[in-house]
Order: sequence, then structure tokens, then C-alpha cells
Amino acid sequence: MRAKPIIRVARTADAERIGELDREWTPILGRTARFQMAASKGRLLVAELDGDLVGYAAHGRFFGYDFLELLAVQPAKRRQGIATALFRAVESRSRSGKLFTSTNRSNRPMRRLCERLGFLPSGAVENLDACDAELFYFKEVEVHSASGAQE
Ligand SMILES: CC(C)(COP(=O)(O)OP(=O)(O)OC[C@H]1O[C@@H](n2cnc3c(N)ncnc32)[C@H](O)[C@@H]1OP(=O)(O)O)[C@@H](O)C(=O)NCCC(=O)NCCS
Repeated sequence: MRAKPIIRVARTADAERIGELDREWTPILGRTARFQMAASKGRLLVAELDGDLVGYAAHGRFFGYDFLELLAVQPAKRRQGIATALFRAVESRSRSGKLFTSTNRSNRPMRRLCERLGFLPSGAVENLDACDAELFYFKEVEVHSASGAQE
């Protein structure tokens, strides 16, 4: 069943809660400061269903282009299109026309999601995590405000 989440920009006050959820929903610890930083720049999006926070995505910059860097969905709500909705919201905010993202080679759900959304493989970086390369993906997206690479 496809969900129709409401996607909104997170407030700075949401970042602490998202940090707690992140510890429950992903194996990665201690990212609250990154959520706070993203929220302070208006670069943290949340997905809500019936008033519950069910997903989040933080986006930033990468060599002057857009980069979706932190993404997770509540385990009980996966495979309902929530990450897809968050990706679409990040795409619609692109200022550069190029959206990058990355994930570990071992993360099959994220790799499948990227392929499903039309991202193209864009190289790999070894040695960030031991024995689990970081795979980069790229997608050309429509520009909705100022164009061109920045920063
Ligand atoms: C990766 C993740 C964000 C996907 O969220 P989601 O809301 O379940 O994704 P969607 O429902 O939008 O999936 C869209 C498509 O992606 C692919 N996909 C998503 N999860 C998949 C899985 N577990 N296995 C295979 N394909 C998958 C499918 O093609 C799916 O379409 P379908 O359900 O019609 O087959 C979620 O699994 C998650 O939070 N994982 C833990 C955190 C994480 O790994 N984040 C990414 C870090 S880089």
C-alpha cells in the first residue's frame, strides 16, 4: 500500500527527536549534531503520517551540487513510498540540477531505491567503512530556483 506522507521542513526543535529516532531506526549512532546543523540551514525534511514522524532526509552540498546525505524511514512504514516522497521533495529543492547521494555497498534497500528512482552509478570510495565501499549515485533533476553549481 502506498502512503501519502506530508513532507515539511523540520524545525530546529525537531532535530533532537530525529536524533533519537535515528538511533532506533538505523545502526548508526550519534548523528544528532548533524540533524541540528541541517535543520538550522532549512535542509532537514520530515515525513509525517497521521501526525507521526515516519521518515526524514537531510540534504546538503557536494562539490557545489545537491547531496542527499541522511535518510531513514520508520521500519514499520517501509516499502510504502515514504523514502520516495522524501527524495522527490529533495529533488524539487535542487538549485544545481545535479543531485548526488551515496550508500554502503552492503545497503541493498538503498541501492535498489536509487536505481528505482533513476539514479546512475557515479563511482565508489573505499576505506570510509572497513570492507564496505561507499557507492555514489547521481541524477539530473529540474532546477526550481537559482541554477548552476554553488559554494
Ligand atoms: C532505504 C530506505 C530509506 C527505503 O525507505 P522506504 O520508504 O522503504 O522506500 P520506498 O518505499 O520509497 O521504496 C521505493 C523502492 O525502492 C526499492 N526498495 C526499497 N526498500 C527495498 C528493500 N528492502 N528491498 C528491495 N528493494 C527495496 C523498491 O524498488 C521500492 O519499490 P517497491 O516497494 O514498489 O518494490 C529504508 O529501508 C531505511 O530507512 N533503511 C535504513 C536507513 C538507510 O539505510 N538509509 C539510507 C542510508 S544511505
